[in-house]
Amino acid sequence: MDMISIIEDKKMGRALSKEQIAFFARAAADHTVPDYQLAALLMAIRLNGMDARETADLTMAMAASGDMLTPDVGGVPVDKHSTGGVGDTTTLVLAPLVAACGGKVLKMSGRGLGHTGGTVDKLESIPGMVVDLPEDRFLDIVRTVGCAVAGKSAQLAPADKTLYALRDVTATVDSIPLIVSSILSKKFAAGAKAIVLDVKTGSGALMPTLDASIALARAMVDIGHHAGRSIVAVVSGMEEPLGSHVGNALEVKEAIDILAGRAGGPLKQVSLFLGAQMLVASGIAGDEAQADRLLNAALDSGRGLEKFKEMITAQGGDCRVCDDVRLLPAAPVIRSMVAREGGYLAHVNGTALGMAAQRMGAGRIEKDDVIDPAVGFVMKKRIGDFIRPGDEICTLHARSEASAAETEQRIAAALTLSPDPAPKARLLYALVTPQGVKQLTE
Ligand code: URA
Ligand code: CA
Repeated sequence: MDMISIIEDKKMGRALSKEQIAFFARAAADHTVPDYQLAALLMAIRLNGMDARETADLTMAMAASGDMLTPDVGGVPVDKHSTGGVGDTTTLVLAPLVAACGGKVLKMSGRGLGHTGGTVDKLESIPGMVVDLPEDRFLDIVRTVGCAVAGKSAQLAPADKTLYALRDVTATVDSIPLIVSSILSKKFAAGAKAIVLDVKTGSGALMPTLDASIALARAMVDIGHHAGRSIVAVVSGMEEPLGSHVGNALEVKEAIDILAGRAGGPLKQVSLFLGAQMLVASGIAGDEAQADRLLNAALDSGRGLEKFKEMITAQGGDCRVCDDVRLLPAAPVIRSMVAREGGYLAHVNGTALGMAAQRMGAGRIEKDDVIDPAVGFVMKKRIGDFIRPGDEICTLHARSEASAAETEQRIAAALTLSPDPAPKARLLYALVTPQGVKQLTE
């Protein structure tokens, strides 16, 4: 087997054999083929595609490129994956709630990428919290507590690590077979038997249009279903940050506020919807209505917040943050940003807001940058709201006055006001199951 003939086949639009795909995945994991040949094949795949059989073979080969966990966690291991949003803290709300209902949530999560936040970066804002857990300790916490959230172990799907880094710098991220194999290989390797995917659509999403996002969701559900997983995908909007809080400690605070029953809104709504799908996919609830009842009972009784405390403690963190959010890191400069003009908030550039937070220090510009857990902002207005001059648009939490001033300008540039009433942004678009696509109405 040689790499040139594999590239040649895909360049000419031919389907690759299972053996060719296995050779490619192994070469990526072991670095036995130079990056330029891997990159050439990635571009050929991006341009000429892969059929369902090839995509399934690539997913399995990438999953098998490292450890394959077969967790015994006392229930169906369930995972949720979001393709990346701003102010998207659903994992921190739903993992404890699903665990409080008897679910076994096994969540390996990424660091923040570009303008989108990373769940493990958020969790690290809790004093003492450890997110780099050995595989056996991670599974132990899933078994005893019901949920654990950790960084991806380097032994899982190492082929993806090589390929994802190359895709990032060769404009080959936006390929359905490459996205499907990248995401699902990691889920399969971690041992998830039930999988709920949150595929974002809109500007800043992996797939720019609703049709392309639904196509991605269908491709993932098909591959997962044929691999014997219980899998569904939700297609959701990302026109503006999902929660009102953007920034690491701020997003943890918002998750705690929701679990404590003090906050609601779109983040809570989407978290409960995804959580319900997780309970159904893992067989704990017979249908969505029963799942809703279970989740709301866990929320109202405070059992969800108790689970979050248990998980934090198990991962070495100080669970007192759940009773007193002032124990989370706080920024030295906290001040309001007010509107200079009035109008209806018609459009929000979510990517630009994510980048504004990244610039404040909430995200990395370069791979090795250290994150500032305290900084970010809390939005007070959503798309569709009417704004009067002088209204508070958001609260800034900055490291310095200069950073606050710069952020104010970036946020102002990301918002478009209109004299005409504007509709609210759509949150949920479609639910994709192995049986088909169901349009969601709100
Ligand atoms: N996230 C992943 O893990 N892989 C992709 O290809 C895209 C998003
Ligand atoms: Ca993510």
